Amino acid sequence: TSPGHAQVGVTGMAVMGRNLARNFARHGFRVAVHNRTTSKAEAVVREFGHEGDLTLARSLEELVAALERPRRVIVMVAAGPGTDAVIDELVPLLDPGDVVADAGNAHWRDTVRRHDALAEHGIRFAGVGVSGGEVGALEGPSVMPGADADTYAEIGPFLEVVSAHVDDEPCCTLVGPDGAGHFVKMVHNGIEYADMQLIAEGYDLMRRLLGMEPAAAAEVFREWDGTELESYLVGITAEVLAQSDAGTAGPLVDVIRDAAEQKGTGRWTVQSALDLGVPVTGIAEATMARALSGDTARRAAVRDALGDQDPAGPPARVPTDDLRQALYAAKVVSYAQGLDLVRAGSAEQCWDVELAELPRIWRDGCIIRARLLADITEALERHPDAPSLLATPTFARAVTERLPALRRVVGAAVQGGVPVPVLSAVLAYLDALRAERLPAALVQGLRDYFGAHTYERVDRPGSFHTAWAADR
Ligand code: ATR
Repeated sequence: TSPGHAQVGVTGMAVMGRNLARNFARHGFRVAVHNRTTSKAEAVVREFGHEGDLTLARSLEELVAALERPRRVIVMVAAGPGTDAVIDELVPLLDPGDVVADAGNAHWRDTVRRHDALAEHGIRFAGVGVSGGEVGALEGPSVMPGADADTYAEIGPFLEVVSAHVDDEPCCTLVGPDGAGHFVKMVHNGIEYADMQLIAEGYDLMRRLLGMEPAAAAEVFREWDGTELESYLVGITAEVLAQSDAGTAGPLVDVIRDAAEQKGTGRWTVQSALDLGVPVTGIAEATMARALSGDTARRAAVRDALGDQDPAGPPARVPTDDLRQALYAAKVVSYAQGLDLVRAGSAEQCWDVELAELPRIWRDGCIIRARLLADITEALERHPDAPSLLATPTFARAVTERLPALRRVVGAAVQGGVPVPVLSAVLAYLDALRAERLPAALVQGLRDYFGAHTYERVDRPGSFHTAWAADR
């Protein structure tokens, strides 16, 4: 290692860190790489050294020594204790003004904590959300950095170069200070949960209401990928459904165990939403659906106890075009809910996140990239103060037009006994938001009855309490 040579240091050479380091090198940056287990960093330099200027650092001391000043260290290690361990080791090696960017999957509250802790040493800290999986990290991810403006000035230009681009615009922008980037990444993942569950519900309906085989469903998704539903996830759905299994010669999807896993970002999204009182019902149901699917022992016990025969009779059929419209409307609602959560988080933390920037940097590189995002960006740019994406003219019209189809689909699903937790949650959300009167009036009455919690009236100001049972 030649001292002060490298522009960026990356520690953590698991697949994401390795690919991000290669991405920097391929773009002509001088990169120093490090991993706790040195052999992994050696392998990266050996295998990919020809791609660019990759320097091996055998220790964090060597990594720090290899960097020009102010130093830029990107941490890409296991989230949680791993990140804290690396940061604790780095801090005494760094000087005031140096920049540490955590590009792992940190919880945004940890990022706020680390930002403040490093600030005490004069070390600048960025929390960088990165989406796109291993291919994205290598070829251009969507990047959601949270940092102070002067910190972003040091690290942002590098991130923007290696991010995905649409029309020469980077899918990377400063979203706000400290934890804002990881918060936005968390909500991005929550939206991804809802997107995937919606696609799964659409597939289940094709199969169980319409009697379609996976190959036929794959065709429909392939067709949809050329419509308003065009997205990375719809595209790969067609491929997954079309895949046959070498062992059984049947569809691969039929031999994959039907228990979905999660790493926790969906749960974090819902937890943050509960803390902030934001109804992200689509994301919540998608998260719960994964938990339910994984609870295989309980599923078996209840299936045995209750039976799986639907007494309601033969399922109603719906046209696949109804499914397409229902999925689009539901997708819009889950984006609206996710953006509401960012708005609330930003307000609580005083982050000043510009909402329209998020769909803009999600247009490419990330897992939720979709044609729809360009329209969302435009609607939010035109109506930055709209209280909901659903209240913007474009999406009010889009959802209203598709509401009858969504209602037919949910109705048929309920009748046919096909669980559609996200589709039905989203429909209930729309119906509730649009209702003139909600039965919350009765809830308030009950609360006043048993707890004297008081209620407000529609016809005059003040708090009221009724002597419900005068003879109590
Ligand atoms: P993956 O991303 O493949 O799931 P991981 O367990 O999340 O793997 O770990 C990713 C990276 O974090 C690895 O580079 C790992 O270093 P090792 O190769 O030495 O295991 C790094 N890592 C995890 N915990 C760490 C710690 N406490 N200190 C330093 N690096 C750590």
